[in-house]
Amino acid sequence: MTKVTAQMSVSLDGFYAGPRFTGDGNWMASGEAAGFFRVTRWVIDAQAWRERQGYEGGEQSTNSEIIEETFAAAGAYVMGRRMFDGGEVPWGEEPPFRAPVFVVTHRPREVLERKGGTSFTFVTEGIESAIERAKAVANGKDVAVAGGGTLVRQVLAAGLLDQLELHIVPAVLGDGMRLLHPALGLAEKEAIELRPTRVVHAPDVTHVRYSVEGRAPLVLDDRGSGQPVEA
Ligand SMILES: NC(=O)c1ccc[n+]([C@@H]2O[C@H](COP(=O)([O-])OP(=O)(O)OC[C@H]3O[C@@H](n4cnc5c(N)ncnc54)[C@H](OP(=O)(O)O)[C@@H]3O)[C@@H](O)[C@H]2O)c1
Repeated sequence: MTKVTAQMSVSLDGFYAGPRFTGDGNWMASGEAAGFFRVTRWVIDAQAWRERQGYEGGEQSTNSEIIEETFAAAGAYVMGRRMFDGGEVPWGEEPPFRAPVFVVTHRPREVLERKGGTSFTFVTEGIESAIERAKAVANGKDVAVAGGGTLVRQVLAAGLLDQLELHIVPAVLGDGMRLLHPALGLAEKEAIELRPTRVVHAPDVTHVRYSVEGRAPLVLDDRGSGQPVEA
């Protein structure tokens, strides 16, 4: 059965990039880029990532296995327009996805066909529509929500996400773009519950996979007293 999955690299304080770059100049010189580069540093030497980018070398490591597995599980992708904008040039003529990618945006654009099986289809009808279209072509594999955080957060908030994997990097950025924040729209006494299903340690990052259980009310327990709780 097709699952909807997402995976993101985050700092210990939950940021997937540095503070949002709002200018129209050089994104690479921004704090947003610096934070993003730090939280995704674990990827760079992995053989599986280098192979997908068309680069030589790299290490056959735990991190490489995680990346290989992530790419192999996805039959189609959904991503936000800002992530696409950042990747369009560096991904080049043969992007690493090798599958259909649905870019969620308010800006209509013609489909881009690339070499190696990647296409970018721009969806202006919202995330639900993008996920449905991705499911229809995923061939029974997963639909992977590739990022950025704005997209992943909405999919989680809408109850559309089955599995979330966080690659937790042991660095505190202090400020930046936070994956899980009030825009999730939770009520005062409500949480989204997740169940850890796998933890993989590497020296520079911890990979934690969760199944998403869904929204649940927050209730007070008796703190072990055996007495009824009075709120
Ligand atoms: N740490 C990681 O693992 C990781 C992974 C991927 C990306 N990133 C980083 O994340 C950053 C980008 O993330 P982001 O959160 O800023 O942006 P994003 O999620 O990539 O894209 C946001 C854009 O998507 C479109 N969008 C979002 N929701 C929509 C909706 N419901 N309907 C229509 N369009 C919608 C809008 O585009 P329009 O303005 O065109 O309407 C919006 O501006 C970059 O710095 C990137 O490097 C980090």
